[in-house]
Amino acid sequence: MKNNFQADRAYAQWLDDNDPLKEIRGRFYVQEDEIYMDGNSLGLASKDAEEALLKMLETWKKEGIKLWDGLFHYAGKLGELSAPLINAYPDEIVITGSTTINIHQCISTLYKPTKDRYKILVDDLNFPTDRYAIDSQVRLRGYTPDEAVKVVKSSDGRLIDEEAVITAMTDDVAIILLPTVLYRSSQVLDMRKVTKAAHDRGILIGWDLCHAIGAIPMDFKEVQPDFAVWCTYKYLSAGPGSIAGLYMNRKHFKETPGLAGWWGNKDETQFELKHQFEHQQDASGWQIGSPSFLAMAPLEGTLNIFNEVGIEKIREKSLLITAYLMYLIDEKLERYGFNVGNPREDNRRGGHVCLEHQEAYRICKALKQAGIVPDFREPNVIRLAPIALYNTYQEVYTLVETLEKIAVEKTYEQFSNERTLVV
Ligand SMILES: Cc1ncc(COP(=O)(O)O)c(C=O)c1O
Repeated sequence: MKNNFQADRAYAQWLDDNDPLKEIRGRFYVQEDEIYMDGNSLGLASKDAEEALLKMLETWKKEGIKLWDGLFHYAGKLGELSAPLINAYPDEIVITGSTTINIHQCISTLYKPTKDRYKILVDDLNFPTDRYAIDSQVRLRGYTPDEAVKVVKSSDGRLIDEEAVITAMTDDVAIILLPTVLYRSSQVLDMRKVTKAAHDRGILIGWDLCHAIGAIPMDFKEVQPDFAVWCTYKYLSAGPGSIAGLYMNRKHFKETPGLAGWWGNKDETQFELKHQFEHQQDASGWQIGSPSFLAMAPLEGTLNIFNEVGIEKIREKSLLITAYLMYLIDEKLERYGFNVGNPREDNRRGGHVCLEHQEAYRICKALKQAGIVPDFREPNVIRLAPIALYNTYQEVYTLVETLEKIAVEKTYEQFSNERTLVV
């Protein structure tokens, strides 16, 4: 299909008519007067998520404290529902905390610096919260980030070279944290290759899946990373501030959590309320405090959609719709100074397209004025995420047509370049 792409609306309509996921769009709250291209930042609400949230509210209303009887293992149940997304064992996943808290939890559990092996390896393109967490973790152990955080640098500000990461795996590295999909350039790192290289050198490794979960299939039974973390408000559409995911490989179940709390205690003795912590030896043992049911319930609804459709089919459409977007950019926009900044190969790009332009900031403002929601990332990136579950090929066509109009008419010039807090 890809080689036959055509740059006209009738072809976009044909793609929509033949989209195997077209019925799923109706389950989401898509605003008819708006084109939403920001599902990689905050996924749209779905009716399934709403239903699950309202059901949780009803349970609270009717049952009060008795709700614990049915919901005691809810965080683990959501972990079980998440397992097919990464092909992990269900007991290796728990829905808890936020991405950042879960990084703190995993690093404080698994980072055991010695005189010779004390460094944490990271890259310089990951989302900053990961670096803030890593820097503070080494400080807690008495190091400065300069001493103990080793940074693999990108050569072009877009991509991370896996070979450079592997070369940086020296004998002083204890643990590695990397993103699976880079938040700006959409590059997919080869988790299998990098994880194997780390393990061959006696180094532990964890992955930040924020831009990968729900966008690309992963196989943790094969990759066998030591830990992983992810948020659920992007592709998983579980709502603003929804509760995050934590994966802990079974081989680490006996480790004591770095950040212990009573929700990580063994189920059988949790309510004995003893002052000696007894660790629950599965992923749920890395919970800290009481689970936030109202912020978790929408995830149950959307995971049902993901499990019904299957992540492979979602990826199939995502690859086609992002390929179509890149094709239209090449056909219609390249001449106006736009450039595709993400890798083009199917196995190296995630769920969004990284569109670069020197006027990216003001063009994003013009897009919003025209009823299209993109997002901007410094210094020159317009992130565009046509989401497999709810975006259409015709929306992609309109998006490119609108960008062309903005570029030709220079409508972005009416906006200031001064950055505001949220774009
Ligand atoms: C790669 C990555 N990690 C972490 C976060 C955010 O962390 P948290 O969920 O704790 O806010 C983001 C947010 O966009 C992200 O892109």
